[in-house]
Amino acid sequence: MKLVLFGGKGGVGKTTCSSSSGLYFAEKKQKTLVICTDPAHSLGDSYGQALENEINKIEGVENLSALEINSNIRLEEFKKKHGDAIKKLLDTATQLDEEDIESMFQLPIPGMDELMGFKAIVDLIEESNFDKYIVDTAPTGHALKLIFSPQLINDYVKVMAKMRWKYKYMVKTFSGKNTTDTSDDFLMDLKRTITRIEKLLKDEDLCEFVPVAIPEAMSVLETQRLISELIKYGIHIQRIVINNVITSEGCQFCRDRKNQQQFYINQIRDKFAHLKIVLIPLQNSEIRGIEKLNKIKNLIFG
Ligand SMILES: Nc1ncnc2c1ncn2[C@@H]1O[C@H](COP(=O)(O)OP(=O)(O)OP(=O)(O)O)[C@@H](O)[C@H]1O
Ligand SMILES: [Mg+2]
Repeated sequence: MKLVLFGGKGGVGKTTCSSSSGLYFAEKKQKTLVICTDPAHSLGDSYGQALENEINKIEGVENLSALEINSNIRLEEFKKKHGDAIKKLLDTATQLDEEDIESMFQLPIPGMDELMGFKAIVDLIEESNFDKYIVDTAPTGHALKLIFSPQLINDYVKVMAKMRWKYKYMVKTFSGKNTTDTSDDFLMDLKRTITRIEKLLKDEDLCEFVPVAIPEAMSVLETQRLISELIKYGIHIQRIVINNVITSEGCQFCRDRKNQQQFYINQIRDKFAHLKIVLIPLQNSEIRGIEKLNKIKNLIFG
């Protein structure tokens, strides 16, 4: 796999799994980039290193780098770069006047910032400076928005292209001239970006999504929903990680919790009999810094 995405409910261990998988692949001499798309970045905290707004080498680990992507900044850059083309598009394809166009340009388009975050990932993969790309996604709702953003924007592109086509048809009818300008290039470019992202996400030789869960009712339910959405979309899933699994039987509290957890672990095993289940035991301290992440890495890949 070239691209591995970790996703799940808030706080279940997505970042921990992403950073320790990064350590694993790096150790296997694969040049690895761990990317965080969660606006509330915690990759730096996980590795115990402050991350700059660029690709950062992880200190003391060969072959490992990390990047926290800020989708809003990417969207602003995109708007700056394509602002004229977008305004031209609105000008020729709608009846809006200059002031309205300006207001419309400032409006957020749902899914556009996620799409830009994803574009950044696909650009990185196409630059091919790394062997492995691991994505630490934001909690489920946001991760699904990320995955569905290409489809959403594709619908916009279709409507825009149709309006452009009508405009061009009119110009041709009245002036006999074919018109092509930067807004056509812009639409084509956006369409190409969407196609690149969807192709990568649906390629089971290149991309895998790993749902992360904990053995509790809410997480099991959310994992089921997440998986069914991902399957509908066509993303390849091979394994589920169940984190925070209690192993100790030393006291009544532990035995009770362990029994409750076992019920949900069995439920996941039954529901997803075709998937590999990876259990990560609950540790006696939080997982921060390379040493602790290495321990989790051994537990996952042991
Ligand atoms: N197996 C474990 N044992 C003990 N602590 C753990 C374990 N896995 C994760 N943690 C701790 O639980 C907390 C949440 O983990 P993590 O940040 O990886 O979750 P997340 O899913 O990325 O959260 P968020 O949704 O907020 O991004 C962290 O403090 C982490 O150190
Ligand atoms: Mg996280």
